[in-house]
Amino acid sequence: MRLQTTGASLLISTFLSGLAAATGFDCAHLNVDGYKYDFSSLGGVHELYHVNETETWKTNTTYVMNICNILKKAANRPEGKCGTSKNICGFVDEKPKDGNGGTQFGFPIAGLDPAGAGSKDPKFTRLNTIDENMQGVRVELGGGEYKGDHNDAKVKDTSAQIDFQCDPDRSGLEGLSTRDDPMERRDESDSTRGRSLEFKSFDLTEDDKYVLKLEWKTRFACDEYQRGKNGSSHWGFFTWMILILFLAIATYLIFGSWLNYNRYGARGWDLLPHGDTLRDVPYIFQDWVKRVLNTLQGSGSRGGYSAV
Ligand SMILES: *[C@@H]1O[C@H](CO)[C@@H](O)[C@H](O)[C@H]1NC(C)=O
Ligand SMILES: *[C@@H]1O[C@H](CO)[C@@H](O)[C@H](O)[C@H]1NC(C)=O
Repeated sequence: MRLQTTGASLLISTFLSGLAAATGFDCAHLNVDGYKYDFSSLGGVHELYHVNETETWKTNTTYVMNICNILKKAANRPEGKCGTSKNICGFVDEKPKDGNGGTQFGFPIAGLDPAGAGSKDPKFTRLNTIDENMQGVRVELGGGEYKGDHNDAKVKDTSAQIDFQCDPDRSGLEGLSTRDDPMERRDESDSTRGRSLEFKSFDLTEDDKYVLKLEWKTRFACDEYQRGKNGSSHWGFFTWMILILFLAIATYLIFGSWLNYNRYGARGWDLLPHGDTLRDVPYIFQDWVKRVLNTLQGSGSRGGYSAV
């Protein structure tokens, strides 16, 4: 299982460089205001659906996404096609309540445009600039288009806005079904806590665009997690230890020298505390090396030799 996952992420990362150039969004190396995020473990094809019921219609829209790579064949479903070069697609299944007819179709939300020129202006915002109590990052990906409902036939730009919110207790995969790999389906205990990836809305915004809003709770959006992973806290510890050790030795030498100078009028080597010992260090070391060499050579004949 673990091996499989590693293999998958390896595969993903080989595709990544190309994708990053194309969409301007590299899920493994996101850098926002100096904060680094790695969402590569949230990659893979995931889907969630939302049902909207009105008096006469029942609309079930399934959103299929892969934030780390294009959807490829997952963009083709019974409901329709949306373009294999997309990252996020919507698949609408619209049925009248009286049970007659209905429509099905797919549409792109985010990803490469048909010419392959990449999604328009990916945008990244740290959530604490929106709400200071929130930790995480908002990712906006464009490149989709949607025609709206029946009486409005005009095609409008469509994009996705995903809020990756910090939750130290979640990997982000809780309650997700992965279409690629049924083995990756999470156990039920996870889903009782609620899914980590949630639909918020799909609406026409003030600037006349359709926006799919999602919320994704994961520890990979936490500042603390990223710092720990980079190992900088460990470095911090060692740096402090070496610094303190250095300061202690320096203090000892300086204070000791000052004491020797004042009390005994010492000069030169004699200034240093244990000056005579320090002076002998090269000889002691030489002696030690000799002994080690002797031992290594295993010269039994000189076994009688014993150091002072
Ligand atoms: C449900 O659909 C109606 C009509 O299309 C729309 O006005 C409404 O915002 C939708 N509700 C949700 C929660 O998406
Ligand atoms: C909506 O569609 C999905 C498949 O895309 C299906 O699994 C789900 O049961 C449907 N939900 C409803 C309420 O029809």
